[in-house]
Amino acid sequence: MKPLNVLILGASGGIGRAMTQHILAHTDATVFATYHRALPDMQHSRLRWHALDVTKEDDYGALMTSLSAEVESLDWVINCVGVLSLDECTPEKSVKAVTASSLMTSIQVNTLPTLLLAKYALPLLRRAKAPRFATLSARVGSIEDNQLGGWYSYRCSKAALNMALKNISIEWGRLMKRSCTVALHPGTTATALSLPFQANVPKDQLFSPEKTASLLFHVLENLSPEDNGLFLAYDGSRIEW
Ligand SMILES: NC(=O)c1ccc[n+]([C@@H]2O[C@H](COP(=O)([O-])OP(=O)(O)OC[C@H]3O[C@@H](n4cnc5c(N)ncnc54)[C@H](OP(=O)(O)O)[C@@H]3O)[C@@H](O)[C@H]2O)c1
Repeated sequence: MKPLNVLILGASGGIGRAMTQHILAHTDATVFATYHRALPDMQHSRLRWHALDVTKEDDYGALMTSLSAEVESLDWVINCVGVLSLDECTPEKSVKAVTASSLMTSIQVNTLPTLLLAKYALPLLRRAKAPRFATLSARVGSIEDNQLGGWYSYRCSKAALNMALKNISIEWGRLMKRSCTVALHPGTTATALSLPFQANVPKDQLFSPEKTASLLFHVLENLSPEDNGLFLAYDGSRIEW
């Protein structure tokens, strides 16, 4: 089989970095990885770094132009970008804490990038035999699963992300019969994003980024077109939208 071409957004983050390392170590894929603030110190003969600010639409066009010069197709596109605490503010416990800027920034980083990524990556994905398109969502973005409330901006932006993914899966399911688009819940993982909340998480429920990457990779490699449009947890189980 031809080696895969994989694009990972947010490879400078905890889960994105571990996912990049896992794919490089366990496959012969070429990985195109994006970072935002600083070029990570990870190098590999099959790893290509690109700068990308997910809030800037022009950056996606520039990225895809650059990738098109290197490859004919993209097989897997995985978006690991996300934000929870904004400017050192903890997520809102009450609606009284919601601000326009907290919601808009959450949408800008957690929701819109998947739509722009889909828009700009489509020409390269269409040329793959069995394209897979996945974004890391979060169980707290499930409306059905919401028992606790709180975390307004994060929950709303992830719920909107889930709708975006479901919509893409429907459109692309018609356009590319072999494609599979999913939302993934990584489980609570020890990264910068979850750091302020780790104290209350039982040890066996706090995964290392490496464990999460290994579990998510297993889910991704076992996807088929029948799984198109699902919201899946790290163990492959289905989550209600
Ligand atoms: N960790 C968990 O427990 C957990 C649980 C459920 C869901 N998730 C989801 O999993 C995903 C990954 O989370 P993580 O724990 O790995 O978080 P993380 O370590 O904080 O990484 C976040 C990533 O997002 C990137 N990013 C933020 N703003 C950006 C922007 N404007 N442009 C480009 N990149 C930007 C960061 O890039 P720079 O560092 O270069 O700025 C970094 O690569 C997120 O979507 C998160 O919601 C995580």
